Amino acid sequence: MVAKDDFSSPAMDLPAEPQIYDDILGTMGDTPLVRLNRVARGVRAQMIAKVEYFNPGGSVKDRIGITIIEDAERNGTLKPGGTVVEATSGNTGVGLAIAAILKGYKTVFVMPDKMSEEKIRVLRAYGARVVVTPTNVEPEDPRSYYSVAKQIVAETPNSILANQYHNPVNTQTHVDSTGPEIWWQTAGKIDVFVCGMGTGGTITGVGRYLKSMNPKIQIVGVDPIGSILHDYFYTGKMTEAHSYKVEGIGEDFIPSNYDFTVIDDMVRVNDKESLLMTRRLVREEGMFVGGSSGAAIAGALRYVAERDLGADKMVVVLLPDSGSRYLSKVFDDNWMRENRFLESDWVETRVSTVLERKGQRELVLARCKEPVGEVIAKMKSGDVSQLPVVGERDQLLGIVTEVGLLSYLLSQPGSDSSKVAIEDAGVIDSNVYTLNPETPIESVMSVFGTNDIALVTEQVTGSDDKRVVGILTKIDLLDFLTKR
Ligand SMILES: Cc1ncc(COP(=O)(O)O)c(C=O)c1O
Repeated sequence: MVAKDDFSSPAMDLPAEPQIYDDILGTMGDTPLVRLNRVARGVRAQMIAKVEYFNPGGSVKDRIGITIIEDAERNGTLKPGGTVVEATSGNTGVGLAIAAILKGYKTVFVMPDKMSEEKIRVLRAYGARVVVTPTNVEPEDPRSYYSVAKQIVAETPNSILANQYHNPVNTQTHVDSTGPEIWWQTAGKIDVFVCGMGTGGTITGVGRYLKSMNPKIQIVGVDPIGSILHDYFYTGKMTEAHSYKVEGIGEDFIPSNYDFTVIDDMVRVNDKESLLMTRRLVREEGMFVGGSSGAAIAGALRYVAERDLGADKMVVVLLPDSGSRYLSKVFDDNWMRENRFLESDWVETRVSTVLERKGQRELVLARCKEPVGEVIAKMKSGDVSQLPVVGERDQLLGIVTEVGLLSYLLSQPGSDSSKVAIEDAGVIDSNVYTLNPETPIESVMSVFGTNDIALVTEQVTGSDDKRVVGILTKIDLLDFLTKR
């Protein structure tokens, strides 16, 4: 990444003009692409997140708030002092509310009652009127949130329905902004784009733009189990929808914003994996995102694993919103337990517990100055095929394996293995997976996808050194899980 400027330099070049946005909407878009490190451990393809909570109202939907309102102004349906009405799961409401505030319109939002209390409060905080309707009714039912929103427009003079499900401005906004941003930010190197789907605006708009730049880019939708989109895409049949907990994605009808010709594949995810992945994104990547982001990543990882995409492939996954709107749900242990998403034993168990349960066997380590022959003897007596290697300050340097030693001895037939230190033999592999004792054991699975052992380390205070405190093998974990 190129730094914007070196602010510590006294000779810093000042810009010609003060760098000030005229209003908060000026900060829209250009949301960052961020590499996923821990949750994508063991995955060869590059996994990149497009983090939409950087938008001014905290979600991807901020993008369509202003464009829908300006389109209605242009075509004359929205006049000064008018009211913007929408059936929204929350985020579109925030986007519309910000634009409406800056332009002097009133807002009324209709939300199904499964939506989190935070979303309702946020909309009220922006000065909107919020009407809550039952979730489990058919879209045509007069109590459904679509029907109630239409009714409010019919009864309110000078009002418009933003109509994100059928308004083509929704899709066009992503053709004009989100798609080009991703193309530019990846320098045109993107191979796969993955996102959740609600109105279909994001996937259709981004997909249409990216395919126009390079038709080989794969566009993949993630659909929660219970939604009808996946089955409709593959069979053309309308199935019965069932309720699910992840908010903002999945549908019980087909919004006209969908253009299925730009979508190549769809992946299904369940609530539990989506919500547990949401928690991992926060705790392992520091990305405070909502449940549909966890769904998108869980789906993307499945897609990539099934195709075994290589390191030359770049996968961009859109993370729609912030976790702050779900504090009373995915981030509340009681709510998670009530819904049986937390088998608390499993989720709360940390690597340190597995190590303790395994019992204190003395940790066998190789020192970098130890000769090859001695290290081989240590491996033999410890009956292990690999050893962590430490330096003079006991700091972790890497790992030495049977295979590494074997290929050294074969390539150097004349060398005296009782004299050559392993650091001089070049057999220390620094590419080693380390885990923190506090890591939840569910995250260990991704390491064991590609590695037989993981080293458990602690950071030495005041330095970059890591100290080895234990070794975890696949068998240790299997043993722990079966005896639990
Ligand atoms: C949290 C969240 N994720 C994903 C989406 C889906 O985006 P789209 O409606 O563009 O398909 C939405 C839409 O409401 C959302 O609120």
